[in-house]
Amino acid sequence: MTTITPDKASLLSSLGQRARPPAITVLMQMALETPGLLSLAAGFTDNATLPLTAVGEALRGMAENAADREFLQYGTNAGRPRLRTVLAARMLAQDGRFALGADPEEMRRWADRLFVTNGSQQALYLAVQTLCEPGDIVLVDRPSYFVFLELLGGLGVEAKSLPVDADGRLDFAALRVLLAGLRAEGKRERVKAVYFVSWFANPSGRTLDAEEKRGLAETLRAEDCVVPVIEDAAYRELGYEAGAAEAQPGILGDPAWDGFPRLYTSTLTKPFATGLKVGYGACDHDAWRAAMLHVKGHHDFGTGNFAQALLERALIDGAFDAQLAVLRSAYREKRDALHAALEAGGLLSRGWRWLVPEGGLYLWLEGPRGLDTGGESAFFRACLREGVLYVPGELCYGDEAPKHTVRLSFGVLAVERLREAGARFCRAAASV
Ligand SMILES: Cc1ncc(COP(=O)(O)O)c(C=O)c1O
Repeated sequence: MTTITPDKASLLSSLGQRARPPAITVLMQMALETPGLLSLAAGFTDNATLPLTAVGEALRGMAENAADREFLQYGTNAGRPRLRTVLAARMLAQDGRFALGADPEEMRRWADRLFVTNGSQQALYLAVQTLCEPGDIVLVDRPSYFVFLELLGGLGVEAKSLPVDADGRLDFAALRVLLAGLRAEGKRERVKAVYFVSWFANPSGRTLDAEEKRGLAETLRAEDCVVPVIEDAAYRELGYEAGAAEAQPGILGDPAWDGFPRLYTSTLTKPFATGLKVGYGACDHDAWRAAMLHVKGHHDFGTGNFAQALLERALIDGAFDAQLAVLRSAYREKRDALHAALEAGGLLSRGWRWLVPEGGLYLWLEGPRGLDTGGESAFFRACLREGVLYVPGELCYGDEAPKHTVRLSFGVLAVERLREAGARFCRAAASV
């Protein structure tokens, strides 16, 4: 008997056909298959500081209250009401809009606009899925978070980079030219959103300052491009100096963005425990938020209640902030270790440059012009031979990807191994 297997085109939807394996799984696979390889590629967090004690205590507290087992039940689609209130209050306090608890009415309004998701990644997906058709355009920072770029590709959406100058700052004159060009091509109406990572960005480590963000809002408004804006604040709380998160408001607290439909996303994974996979979105546009919640209902009708309950406790009893203090000094030490290893390995004298970030998990390196760091390059193979893995920077561009950049993550490896990984990277750089 012959079995006829339907081919991909007749079997799968256009979404199914467009789907590609995420770049990070390919890199992770490589790491697993190469014994002794030190990975500076994955955006994983520090293992040694994961909050085992705090999680144990929170669990005991939850389990001791036998009368209340609701955390083992399904929750609601938008998330636990108490957690939403706590997160809204935290966000408003970071925006400097009022001291915690000072205005219960305002807090309730924002808690209603905030929804808890399965990692902030889900909020990003819901945002694009509810705004864009295949062929639409999203303006993205340059460089940008490569999983977001993959998400756009999976939905058939085109990414266009927000132009930047030689220092990586947004270039508003060039943005005007870009928007005028899109208008001339009849594509301006296809621009459906703007996306950027504001604090200690993945991959660049940069923070968009208040002036840059306001300039962006003003330029978009002047060019009649008042489209939904998505601010990704995944690393806002991972500034190494306490208070960095409060240094400037997010888009929801900045009047420069009034009139734009706004979605602010952030996460409890990187600043506490990635395994709990809880993030959130706060959106001030009722129809957009409702659409995201309806689609979320189709996905999962609610983020895991158990993880939410645990985080709610950790936020209220102070364990979350205590963990943040631990992480801030641990990541600063790791940043220093990798930075020092790259310096000691002579990378600067070979024409490499990088920013020393004040937060987050990444060093973003520019190699000498003309060097190719792509996944198929001689440089990539030299790194594999030396036993070190990185993310090729070319994955982090919406368009016109330069070939000579590299993202190194210092999140997961311990300090000693970071030193070794840095030395290996420098040996590879010297060998090509
Ligand atoms: C910039 C950025 N945004 C969002 C996310 C998603 O994180 P999560 O789904 O764990 O909240 C990540 C994860 O690496 C990230 O780097």
